[in-house]
Amino acid sequence: MALLHSRRLLAAPRLAAAASRASSWWSHVEMGPPDPIMGVTEAFKRDTNSKKMNLGVGAYRDDNGKPYVLSCVRKAEAMIASKKMDKEYLPIGGLADFTRAAAELSLGENSEAFKSGRYVTVQGISGTGSLRIGANFLQRFFKGSRDVYLPKPSWANHTSIFRDAGMQPQAYRYYDPKTCSLDFSGAMDDISKIPEKSIILLHACAHNPTGVDPRQEQWKELAATVKKRNLLVYFDMAYQGFASGDINRDAWAVRYFIEQGINIVLSQSFAKNMGLYGERAGAFTVICSDADEAKRVESQLKILIRPMYSNPPANGARIASLILNTPELRKEWLTEVKSMADRIISMRTQLVSNLKKEGSSRNWQHITDQIGMFCFTGLKPEQVERLTKEFSVYMTKDGRISVAGVTSGNVGYLAHAIHQVTK
Ligand code: LMR
Repeated sequence: MALLHSRRLLAAPRLAAAASRASSWWSHVEMGPPDPIMGVTEAFKRDTNSKKMNLGVGAYRDDNGKPYVLSCVRKAEAMIASKKMDKEYLPIGGLADFTRAAAELSLGENSEAFKSGRYVTVQGISGTGSLRIGANFLQRFFKGSRDVYLPKPSWANHTSIFRDAGMQPQAYRYYDPKTCSLDFSGAMDDISKIPEKSIILLHACAHNPTGVDPRQEQWKELAATVKKRNLLVYFDMAYQGFASGDINRDAWAVRYFIEQGINIVLSQSFAKNMGLYGERAGAFTVICSDADEAKRVESQLKILIRPMYSNPPANGARIASLILNTPELRKEWLTEVKSMADRIISMRTQLVSNLKKEGSSRNWQHITDQIGMFCFTGLKPEQVERLTKEFSVYMTKDGRISVAGVTSGNVGYLAHAIHQVTK
């Protein structure tokens, strides 16, 4: 009797749990996969190996492997703190000093589009949020096709951003895995067949994930083709300054397209080039045919933004705005961007020379040829898996490494690990 009673007691909560599962609103929700990029960091954090390396997410590290806060950012923060600023809402479109400076930075101070005011720039929640504003704007107002042609491969989040905004991601050839470089003829072949009035996404510089950019002559050919096909060009510029260390050189393609009369849309991020990752400072720009059209577009962007998040966060935009608009801080920033780009370039060289030291006979030239934060190593998924399992080297499954996570202290270990899985 006592046994029966205790069994019943045990069974009761189980039954209750089962009943509540059956009646739950969410019982059909399946476990989703981890994010292909942010999920790598989650796995890295769980690893207890002291030699572990996180080469997954594209976030700059100093040569000690530590997150780096730029000195110009620290100074701007001190200025903001000393001003004891209020915490009022920003306008829906963001901080005007910031959006103007972001437009000037991308378009160039001498740009006709910038000077004539035939553009609108709104603040976005870093690169992703700015892309999402753009994607929603296209979904609502673009009169052409829903198809958005992305380079193959592209940043993993592009597909989700456009799909979730109701657009249809498509692909054009971009990268040749055999040569680990740009498949320019493949790209031109595909782009010349994209139906007119579709949307094409181009990475303005430091292509993510491949680190492979067109050369200036190739950009010119590309511009001529998209113009002929009457495509709407969406530039994603998340790495201005990170490709070459020079913000003007990295904006060359964006400016060239506009000079050719191509009215682009553009997303910008200040996560990488100012190290403002968690501050979420970004911008979305539409180049219009005149200032009046720009005003109308602006009014609609505000209508789109208001129900999404009302208005953007102030702190990151204040920091970026102070840096861009204060001559001494801007000068210091340009030096710091260059030093980040240079450290990455030097890590590329050191990785290749350490691979040679390990005795690797493979051709690793693409590591130094590719630019920006990432190197598309060409490692196969099985090799990536071994790197993670046997050496605690974390990276995305596609073989991309964030070179910014490599330091003079761990480059030897990385080369050793890569050699072990590729020899
Ligand atoms: C990356 O590609 O690692 C970065 O752009 C970070 C991100 O948001 O995915």
